Amino acid sequence: MRRFEPSDTVKRLPEQFFAKLVKKAHDLTDAGHDVINLGQGNPDLPTPPHIVDELKYAADNPEYHKYSPFRGQLFLKEAIRDFYKKEYNVSLDPTREVAILAGSKTGLVDLSQALLNPGDLALLPDPGYPDYMSGIAIAQASTSFMPLRAEHDFLPDYASLSSDILDRAKLMFLNYPNNPTAGMATPSFFNETVDVAKRHHICVCHDFAYAAIGFDGEKPQSFLQSEGAKEIGIEMYTLSKTFNMAGWRAAFAVGNASVIETINLMQDHKYMSLFGAVQQAAMHALVSPQDAVRQLVTTYEKRRDLFIDALQRAGWHVPAPKGTFFAWLPVPDGYSSEEFADLLLEKAHVVVAPGIGFGDHGEGFVRAGLVASEERLREAAARIEKLNLF
Ligand SMILES: Cc1ncc(COP(=O)(O)O)c(C=O)c1O
Repeated sequence: MRRFEPSDTVKRLPEQFFAKLVKKAHDLTDAGHDVINLGQGNPDLPTPPHIVDELKYAADNPEYHKYSPFRGQLFLKEAIRDFYKKEYNVSLDPTREVAILAGSKTGLVDLSQALLNPGDLALLPDPGYPDYMSGIAIAQASTSFMPLRAEHDFLPDYASLSSDILDRAKLMFLNYPNNPTAGMATPSFFNETVDVAKRHHICVCHDFAYAAIGFDGEKPQSFLQSEGAKEIGIEMYTLSKTFNMAGWRAAFAVGNASVIETINLMQDHKYMSLFGAVQQAAMHALVSPQDAVRQLVTTYEKRRDLFIDALQRAGWHVPAPKGTFFAWLPVPDGYSSEEFADLLLEKAHVVVAPGIGFGDHGEGFVRAGLVASEERLREAAARIEKLNLF
């Protein structure tokens, strides 16, 4: 076989940090060990049956066997408008302020290419979701990181960023409830963000992937609830976590009409929107009563309570997350996050993600996903307790 050289763009793509960890976990499983995988962010429960039924029904519609309209079905955009009005009291124009995406990962990666020229600067949270970096590498843009520190509630401290960096930045990514730290945004933080972005002419992209998952009765804020947010930014919303639809690839971007138009223009050249039946089922998910979503949040909250309680009883003093399905756990003294994740994998056969994989400021933490049953989470905590580390 002749070997064809990948393009420079492909060569620029960041290394997949977690690939090593996934391989180690698979090797242990293949060797016959019972591995509990809390290292990934893949929802473990099925899509609610009424959404699956709608897909089955819609799959029979021959209209959907043709190409979908380039920019997606109007009925889905109208459902998104109604959903944002009902959930957040945010008004949207479905034709100008909504873009349908084949998963928000696609939108997040494409956005950098849509807005940034080579050498332009983007502001990224550190630690943060690694795929923001992928889009920036493809666009040949550069990055300045905004540290998320525990003592600042895992929110960027804009006052600590130089005005030169803020003036040069064209795009900023934020994500609350936050992966990996489980930090939550406050209305005053979002108001400050609007203010900073207006002053420095920065486009803000708020990645609202864990929108539905807030605990202790706290409903996560939409960035678009802040006055003036639509003037300077967009929000990406995925159905992957809210409705356990990660495999379906259904998401959308809402907000600033000029950015939505640019995303749509780019998409016109790359995709043909989503399968019509998926769009109909997505519409159904958004407009139906949200009981299954409430039930899902209760499930994660119960898992959080028992897992964090069990770790506390084992002597590991960890904070309880207020949202997302992640726990961000401080690593005991004497270990790097990678060493500690390796230790848990090798000695307890429990997979967690080392914080360093999310950025330099992720060092000192590991991320555990609440994406396993109560029984498995109890078992994971019991195995960790047996190591007598605390
Ligand atoms: C913060 C964050 N953003 C975006 C995504 C991607 O979601 P989607 O399934 O819509 O591509 C994830 C998935 O894990 C995520 O954690």
